[in-house]
Amino acid sequence: MAKSKALWGGRFKSGAARRLRDYTESISFDWKLYRHDIAGSIAHATMLARIGVLSREELAQIVKGLEEIRDEIDAGKFRWNLEREDVHMNVEAALTERYPAGAKLHTGRSRNDQVATAMRLWIRDEIAANQEAISALQRALISWAARDIGVVIPGYTHLQRAQPVLLAHHLLAYVEMLERDFGRLGDAAKRADVLPLGSGALAGSTLPLDRKFVAKLLGFSRVSDNSMDAVSDRDFIVEYNAAAALLAVHLSRLAEDLILWSSAEFHFIRIGDAYTTGSSLMPQKKNPDIAELARGKSARVIGNLVASLTLLKGLPMTYNRDLQEDKERLFDTAETVQATLLVFAEMLGDVEVDKASCRRAASDPLLLATDLADWLVRRGVPFRNAHHLVGEAVGLAEQRKIPITQLSLADWKKISPVFDASALEVFSVEKGLKARKTLGSPNGNLVKAQLARWGKILAGRKKS
Ligand code: ARG
Repeated sequence: MAKSKALWGGRFKSGAARRLRDYTESISFDWKLYRHDIAGSIAHATMLARIGVLSREELAQIVKGLEEIRDEIDAGKFRWNLEREDVHMNVEAALTERYPAGAKLHTGRSRNDQVATAMRLWIRDEIAANQEAISALQRALISWAARDIGVVIPGYTHLQRAQPVLLAHHLLAYVEMLERDFGRLGDAAKRADVLPLGSGALAGSTLPLDRKFVAKLLGFSRVSDNSMDAVSDRDFIVEYNAAAALLAVHLSRLAEDLILWSSAEFHFIRIGDAYTTGSSLMPQKKNPDIAELARGKSARVIGNLVASLTLLKGLPMTYNRDLQEDKERLFDTAETVQATLLVFAEMLGDVEVDKASCRRAASDPLLLATDLADWLVRRGVPFRNAHHLVGEAVGLAEQRKIPITQLSLADWKKISPVFDASALEVFSVEKGLKARKTLGSPNGNLVKAQLARWGKILAGRKKS
């Protein structure tokens, strides 16, 4: 206590002391927790009044002071003091300077349970914001899919053209991935939904703190059952970082598709000017920078996950100052994924599809070679043999340097007598897509049903 008093009030004379202050301070980044720190303090004070530690007047002073401070910070008028180390000490010291009752606020509380509480409250809000932004991106993907519902592109495996799909089907694949991210973040929120406050430094309090009352005020579903776990646990942060890293990886994959599609080699899309840049040297260039940055930023989000795991590894129980290092990684991840989601949601509204290029790319008859094998299967040929026979036809066409559709009926018959003129009807992209009736396939009607299903789900969700 004596030490922190000196720290709060003291002036730094020597360079060494200043270096130490700069090394240990967290206010330069943890000020972001102020709303949640203050909400925690108001709930704590309200409880202290309820159990008779604070008078009604003292509580009123404390609440008034904390609200004033919050409003000043909101307005950018609050002066943060580096000498006060972190957000918790800044707020409490400013309160006590203004209202003497502030000196009673820290009763039965430690910064250890205080910071854990603020972080859990912060993550809860952040997850709600992320989920709204995920929904916004899903909406953008769905509107794009609906806008270009008739467009067929090749689907790829190994980045080789494989089978035709609807562009909408490809886009809906990302809607599915994002939905799992939405769910994973929601799961992380459930486990963050526990109140640490009342755990003290590590061993609770001798005062009759009413933790359940505080939990109710702050909207936590339950209170922690083990004070040591509560002050030292940061797995809720790791979980958030993990869910966000996977989300960032999904966004990076979407980015990669957009980058490929906007290249001259694919030429499937044009990304709006606002989301691309020119080259300082090559006048013809239009670079998909936003998508590239999103792909690049996923690296730091993955790094933040690794950093937060490494931070916890080997920490003895309970609180250790190492834990202060959890914040920048967490804030960086949250900021990065949120910004990427919002920018992507906007960018997808400004993407134009080059329908002719897509048609050209998808009209390669070889994309329907598998459908021809299925045609043989329907005529009783075992699939392995069918695969072989179609392969022979592909080889023959390749050898003659002609499209497979230009082989003569005699050529087909020579490969297998089962072939007849109707076999060649499979070489229609339209028919090929229609013929796909299996659930989850890129059949036009099924894709439209998926779009309608997603439209309904997303209409029911809050808009950001
Ligand atoms: N700024 C600190 C952190 O983020 C707050 C907790 C400090 N607790 C302590 N015992 N020094 O971890």
